[in-house]
Amino acid sequence: MSSYLITGASRGLGFEFVRQLAQDPDNTVIGLVRNKAAAEAKAKEQGIHRVHMVEAQYTDLASLREAAEVVKHITNGGLDYLVNNAAIVSHISEWKTMGDFDDDFETMERDILESLEINLLGAIKIVHAFLPLIRNGKAKKLITISTGMADIDLINATQVAFGSPYAISKGAVNIAMAKYNALYNKDGILFLAISPGYVSTERNKVEAAPEDAEKAAMLVGKFVDYAPHFQRPLTPEESVNALLSVMHKASIANGDGGAFISHLGNKQWL
Ligand SMILES: NC(=O)c1ccc[n+]([C@@H]2O[C@H](COP(=O)([O-])OP(=O)(O)OC[C@H]3O[C@@H](n4cnc5c(N)ncnc54)[C@H](OP(=O)(O)O)[C@@H]3O)[C@@H](O)[C@H]2O)c1
Repeated sequence: MSSYLITGASRGLGFEFVRQLAQDPDNTVIGLVRNKAAAEAKAKEQGIHRVHMVEAQYTDLASLREAAEVVKHITNGGLDYLVNNAAIVSHISEWKTMGDFDDDFETMERDILESLEINLLGAIKIVHAFLPLIRNGKAKKLITISTGMADIDLINATQVAFGSPYAISKGAVNIAMAKYNALYNKDGILFLAISPGYVSTERNKVEAAPEDAEKAAMLVGKFVDYAPHFQRPLTPEESVNALLSVMHKASIANGDGGAFISHLGNKQWL
């Protein structure tokens, strides 16, 4: 019997994690969400019954510590796996380069700070709030969902210049995971950053504005040049299946601590 906590569990990959994990009656599955009532209603509507939705604000350490107390009572003190999945992809800069903000530096500055606040500091606060539970768990694994867009070799190979605040924040969180690994692998706690691939979650299905559609098509073109086998985005089901497999196989003994890898368990991002 294993316990899992998934952040950002109300939609997209987070919801899919909860859906797949809740199929095993031996699992204790907890979704961390910003709106518990809405997340519970969605889970019920989709026939997912064995899940505990717990509310917290990811940017507020006190709120996360309160949520950890709630989780502690659900799991009887421990937590085996934590999946740090919640994140924002800024709509302000998703299809803009840093050069596009030459005349409006303040907007880019705010955008970088917001991306860092949620995608980096939020993930760090989650670690601090839930580490005591992870220590008491059996598996002792904490993974952060990152993105191949934060891989320097991929950026250099594809020359994708837009979406910088998001990529910067994910690159920073990869470093944070490596630093936590350096600190805690002696205690048997695995920290890992995993990219989910390019996935057709609701977010990616939203029609891009006409001026951005061209850039979205260009991105797909660059993906095809970079990885000629790439034909379509993964479904959330395929991605989460692969992510769970990588997470379950990864271990400190195998040298995986602090790594930044893909859903394929290596540096192949697509
Ligand atoms: N989809 C892809 O192709 C792709 C590619 C690479 C990496 N990723 C990564 O995979 C993870 C999940 O992505 P997704 O496609 O499932 O995204 P999504 O559908 O936008 O869901 C993101 C989750 O993050 C939380 N979140 C969103 N905005 C937030 C905010 N302002 N403050 C705090 N939390 C917020 C939400 O959690 P609540 O439940 O609390 O509302 C939401 O459920 C993210 O870390 C993303 O960076 C996705």
